[in-house]
Amino acid sequence: MKILVVMGSPRKGNTYRAARKVEEVMRSKGDVEFEYLMLRDANLSQCGGCFICFTKGEGHCPFKDDASLIEQKMHDADGVIFATPVYGMNVSALMKTFIDRFSYIFHRPRFFHKRALLLSTTGALGLKEILDYLQLVAGIWGFEVSYRVGIVTPPMPISRKRELENEQKLKKAAVVFYDALLKKERGSPGLRSVIVFRAQKASFGELARDSPADYNYWKEKGWLRPHAKYYLDVPVNPLYNVIGWTAEKFLRRKIRKEMAEAQE
Ligand SMILES: Cc1cc2nc3c(=O)[nH]c(=O)nc-3n(C[C@H](O)[C@H](O)[C@H](O)COP(=O)(O)O)c2cc1C
Repeated sequence: MKILVVMGSPRKGNTYRAARKVEEVMRSKGDVEFEYLMLRDANLSQCGGCFICFTKGEGHCPFKDDASLIEQKMHDADGVIFATPVYGMNVSALMKTFIDRFSYIFHRPRFFHKRALLLSTTGALGLKEILDYLQLVAGIWGFEVSYRVGIVTPPMPISRKRELENEQKLKKAAVVFYDALLKKERGSPGLRSVIVFRAQKASFGELARDSPADYNYWKEKGWLRPHAKYYLDVPVNPLYNVIGWTAEKFLRRKIRKEMAEAQE
């Protein structure tokens, strides 16, 4: 199986070492190929905020850099490890640039048959917030998030106890991720995912004129059909479906009203 590590640290430090540990354990379990995408070395400009990728499509991005190559790397992998240190109580700037540049994927999700492992390291604080954020990003992009692991690695030397604790956490993450990659089928979505689908359906279904790239993508996927419940043909909890349906109706009415008011 092929694993892509999207490395958000600007150095081969704690986060890189943590990813290497995961690699070591996964390799001990079977045939695994690892590729490290060191964002510090990638030719990926900061997003210029022009909105063109949303409205016209990512092919129209004014930056002619390695973005599409990087997206292809994610498509070619069976699993992606999103790895970042906590910098300034957030993901690193490199990781944020990476996420910003692929923001069109929030609108046009695509990685439904890929699994993700989220990995973060910190001096003390912020792990939960960063992992929650990465989970939101990877989830909306379509990934099934198999596991999330955060370890504390301050700049000063750490105790042997903490070292062992970190090692155990990384080992567990590697084992769970490896086992998840062997599973073929995709599970039933949670309530949040169902609501995100319905909210996007309500929005993009109204954007044929203003955001044709989004609208056409959704239409081609069949996600705008009246009975479409989710991105994938998997069982959806009936209660979640009713909640999602109601949310979609409500939101669609609100969007239509606002668009009509904007034209007055
Ligand atoms: C610029 C910078 C900002 C940091 N900000 C935080 C922070 O907000 N909270 C925290 O607990 N640790 C913070 N740290 C510590 C790192 O998160 C921690 O040492 C991490 O393991 C470094 O990973 P790296 O070696 O891959 O860069 C910061 C470190 C640096 C260099």
